Amino acid sequence: MIEYENLGLLNAPYQKDFQDVFFKVSQRGWYILGEEVKNFEQEWAAYCGTRFAVGVANGLDALVLCLRALNLAHGSEVLVPSNTYIATILAVLQAGLVPVLVEPRIEDYNMDPDRLRPALTPKTRAILVVHLYGRLAQMEAIMAFARDQGLYVVEDCAQAHGAERNGKKAGAWGHVNAWSFYPTKNLGALGDAGAVTTDDEELADRVRVMRNYGSRVKYYNEVVGVNSRLDEIQAAFLRIKLRRLEELIAHKRNLAQLYHVHLADAGVVLPEKEGQDRHVYHIFNVRHPRRDDLREYLLEKGIKTEIHYPVAPVHQRAMQGILKGPTPIAEEIHATTLSLPISGFHSETDVERVADVIKEFTR
Ligand SMILES: Cc1ncc(COP(=O)(O)O)c(C=O)c1O
Repeated sequence: MIEYENLGLLNAPYQKDFQDVFFKVSQRGWYILGEEVKNFEQEWAAYCGTRFAVGVANGLDALVLCLRALNLAHGSEVLVPSNTYIATILAVLQAGLVPVLVEPRIEDYNMDPDRLRPALTPKTRAILVVHLYGRLAQMEAIMAFARDQGLYVVEDCAQAHGAERNGKKAGAWGHVNAWSFYPTKNLGALGDAGAVTTDDEELADRVRVMRNYGSRVKYYNEVVGVNSRLDEIQAAFLRIKLRRLEELIAHKRNLAQLYHVHLADAGVVLPEKEGQDRHVYHIFNVRHPRRDDLREYLLEKGIKTEIHYPVAPVHQRAMQGILKGPTPIAEEIHATTLSLPISGFHSETDVERVADVIKEFTR
């Protein structure tokens, strides 16, 4: 059996360090917003190349806090990709804003910069761009458009730890940017965790105050805040895994390269080749018109896969009357995409086996 993911196996190399740090943090007796969070924030900002990072409870909260920090008028419109994970859209709604869908480029599954202008209205105030699957969106074009139109840009970096173009990393392009460290992410905690990165001191400060009941000084509340703090123990685990993030990315990029070689003539659509950017392959997806049959065939042969995602946001029951379509490109992606195994514990032999079975199916 080749599993799609197994978090116990993924985290096996870190177990000894996890145990040591658990003991240390437990003994120290300071569990919320202490030195582990502070150190992680500094280390994560340094890794991303930003001046500030602020730890929060999860990726959805990170997005909401980014949007709230911008102080946009209630009902302002935010452009979001039509094929994103639902959290991106929920964040816009939670912040009292209106999500407006923009279709992706079918080649890289990311927001199409050429489709931004037609989506503009007098109420548009921000672009919430997602680096889906670990591939950086076309940030130069998106930032240039935003500058031109006087719009804010927020990056949803939940799938893009370490993704970059010409040395500039995800989380360092937009005005204020959100991270998830959900356990399956390339940098994943042992529970929920998230962060915000920015170069803007004022925005960093607003998020820092809002995440802790709107309070800078205990029992004095400046703004209407929330409880969205990153735990000390999760920050300590993240610091351990951050030291080896580049190793994990190199491993995944090597497996992705092998998929590209072995599936070159296999009759599936592969991820577009990189240009000046570094794809970090949170997800390695292929597309096939008979995706469900292919998935079933792989399962019969002992290979587990996933679908990211089976339902386009516009068709989610919860989004009826909220999101407006049509979004044919998103629907094409949702109907045909299949995510292949590409975890830290997978081997080159696993990839060769997956590729062989795909070729058996498409032959
Ligand atoms: C693109 C995207 N945005 C936001 C999130 C939300 O992150 P979290 O689950 O940590 O709230 C996720 C992941 O789950 C995601 O994939």
